[in-house]
Amino acid sequence: MKEIRGVLFDLDGVITDTAEYHFEAWKKLAEELDISFDREFNERLKGVGRMESLELILNHGEKELSESEKEHFASKKNDHYKTMIANITPNDLLPGILEFMEEIKEAGIKTALASSSKNAQVVIERLEITHLLDEVVDAAKLERGKPDPEIFLKAAEQINEPETACVGVEDAQAGVDAIKAAGMFAVGVGSYLEKADWIVEETSQLELKKLQAKIQ
Ligand code: BG6
Ligand code: MG
Repeated sequence: MKEIRGVLFDLDGVITDTAEYHFEAWKKLAEELDISFDREFNERLKGVGRMESLELILNHGEKELSESEKEHFASKKNDHYKTMIANITPNDLLPGILEFMEEIKEAGIKTALASSSKNAQVVIERLEITHLLDEVVDAAKLERGKPDPEIFLKAAEQINEPETACVGVEDAQAGVDAIKAAGMFAVGVGSYLEKADWIVEETSQLELKKLQAKIQ
């Protein structure tokens, strides 16, 4: 890649710490279902859609539920989660992410949100960053979840830029895998991210100049 034309952001765990809220909400639900749940297991849920996450938890606890029970528990988890995000403000942006998004926009590079969350629109509105995103992929319209590349390819298509000129930013292994499967440069936020092209421990380390140096 010679020039970055688009930066595609995951939301939960990259722009704001809602990954922690998803963890808390799933933990609460797992307790109600009498299934053991810890941070190590939670790593497998990061970036994964709501229903798929519930399936992983049920398999982990060797529990079988009917389709209507699954719907009931998935919506219960979402109710816990919605209570948690109700009070989000711009103060909940992760360190440095606003500055990083602003410098990308100032450089004339397009941006899109590639989040699997059906709550993404509410969260970005509460964070007051809607104007920093040219496009938002609608998770409800996707056929396949991360690690499938569909969401990142869709984001590149929506900003009208070739995927080979796009960079994806993710905190989840499923997300990094999706970015790589889409043929893009992957920035990983956090540790234990295999295949990421550039890993930063924290969002405060994200800088456009450093990113540009990495893609050369
Ligand atoms: C992803 C999160 O962004 O969205 C997952 O990393 C979450 O943890 C998924 O399960 C779906 O979110 P929602 O808000 O539609 O339940
Ligand atoms: Mg994430």
